[in-house]
Amino acid sequence: MSIVSNTLKRIKPSPTIAVTSKAKEMRAAGKDVIGLGAGEPDFDTPDNIKEAAIKAIKAGETKYTAVDGTPTLKKAIQAKFKRENDLSYDLNQITVGTGGKQVLYNAFMATLDKGDEVIIPAPYWVSYPDMILLAGGKPKIIKCEEVDNFKLTPNKLKKAISKKTKWIILNSPSNPTGSCYTKDEILKLSNILKKYKKIYILSDDIYEHITYDNFNFFTIAQVKDLKERVLTMNGVSKSYSMTGWRIGYAAGPIEIIKAISKIQSQSTSNPSSISQAAAVEALNGTQDFIKIRADSFKERRDFVVDSLNSIKGLSCLRPEGAFYVFPNCKKLLGKRTKLNTDKDFVEKLLEKSEVAVVQGSAFGLDGYFRISYATSMENLKKAMDRMRSFCENLA
Ligand SMILES: Cc1ncc(COP(=O)(O)O)c(C=O)c1O
Repeated sequence: MSIVSNTLKRIKPSPTIAVTSKAKEMRAAGKDVIGLGAGEPDFDTPDNIKEAAIKAIKAGETKYTAVDGTPTLKKAIQAKFKRENDLSYDLNQITVGTGGKQVLYNAFMATLDKGDEVIIPAPYWVSYPDMILLAGGKPKIIKCEEVDNFKLTPNKLKKAISKKTKWIILNSPSNPTGSCYTKDEILKLSNILKKYKKIYILSDDIYEHITYDNFNFFTIAQVKDLKERVLTMNGVSKSYSMTGWRIGYAAGPIEIIKAISKIQSQSTSNPSSISQAAAVEALNGTQDFIKIRADSFKERRDFVVDSLNSIKGLSCLRPEGAFYVFPNCKKLLGKRTKLNTDKDFVEKLLEKSEVAVVQGSAFGLDGYFRISYATSMENLKKAMDRMRSFCENLA
C-alpha cells in the first residue's frame, strides 16, 4: 500500500511546470532550447520595489506579521481597489497570501465540501481543477470554443449551473488564451448569476494590467448586486514582475476572508514580511512602467500572431491581454502527420525543433497549444523560424 494519500492520487503535477523542467533538462544537456512555456514576465522587478525590500530588511521588518497581511499592505490594496476598480472594501474584507495561488487554494479549502461543484470555463489555468479536487470539490469543466474567443457564453453558463454549484471561476485576461471579457459580456453573465443567489464568483484578475488595444478592464465585483458574492483575487506577480516574491491577495465577503486566514494561520502563517513591504511600494509607488511594459508585450504579441498566421497549418486569434496566445494546430494532426494529439505535436516540436510550448489539452481544450511570448524578440524570432520549418515539413 502506498504512503501517498488517496486525495493526492486524484491530482497531477502542473503540466506547465513539467514543460519548463523538461526544457531546462535539455538545456543542461547542451541543447539550444527556446522556452515558450513560462508563465512569468521576462522583465526584472523595478528598482524602487527592490529598494523598498532592502529598506525593510535594514529596518528590521524581519519578524512574523499579522497572518493575513500587514495593515500597511492591506491599506495599499484597499487603495488599489478604489483607485483602479472603484471598489470599496474594509480592511477586514482583504487577505494577503503567499501568491495568488495560495489565496485560491485556501479559498477552495475553506469553502468546498465533498460533491460541491465549481464551474470552470475551459481553456483554464491548469491549477484550478486540481486545487478543487484536493479540496474535495468537483470541477465542472465547460468547454468554450474558438468562435466565442474561448469565452463562456450566457447560454453555456445557464446550462452548467446545478443545485450543487458553489462557485464559478472567471479569469480575465485569461491564462492560457489571453482573451478578455468586455464589460458587456460580464454584464450578460451577471444577469444569470443574479438569479442564483447561492453561487459565489471567483474572479481571477492577476493579469489585469497586461492589456492592449485600449481594452477597458472590468471586473465582476463592479456589478451592482453581485459584489457581496464575489471574491476578487489579484497579486503583484505579473503586473509588477514579482513572481518570485510570492504576494497575492483577495477581497470579498468577510466570512470567506476570515476562513482563508484561518487556514493560513494553521499552515504557512504570514507571507514573507520583506515581500509584503515590497508589495506596498509596488501598489503605492509609480505605475509608469506598467504601460511601457504592456507596449513591449503588445509588440511581441503582434509579431507572434502574425508569424503564426503565416505558417501553413496553424491559425491564431489576436487576444487583448496577458502574454499568451493559443494557436490552433488541428490541421496538422491526424494520419498524414502521424501526430494524433496536441501533446504529440508539442513533444515532436520540442524534440525536433527545440521549442518548448504547452499542449492545449493541459488547459482543457484539445487541438491547440499555448505560447508564452514573455521572452525576448530575438528568442521569439528564432522560435517562429523553427516552428515554420517544423510545420512546413509536417504539411
Ligand atoms: C490565471 C492565474 N491565476 C493565478 C496565478 C497565480 O499567480 P501567483 O501565485 O504568482 O500570484 C497564475 C500564475 O501563473 C495564473 O496564471
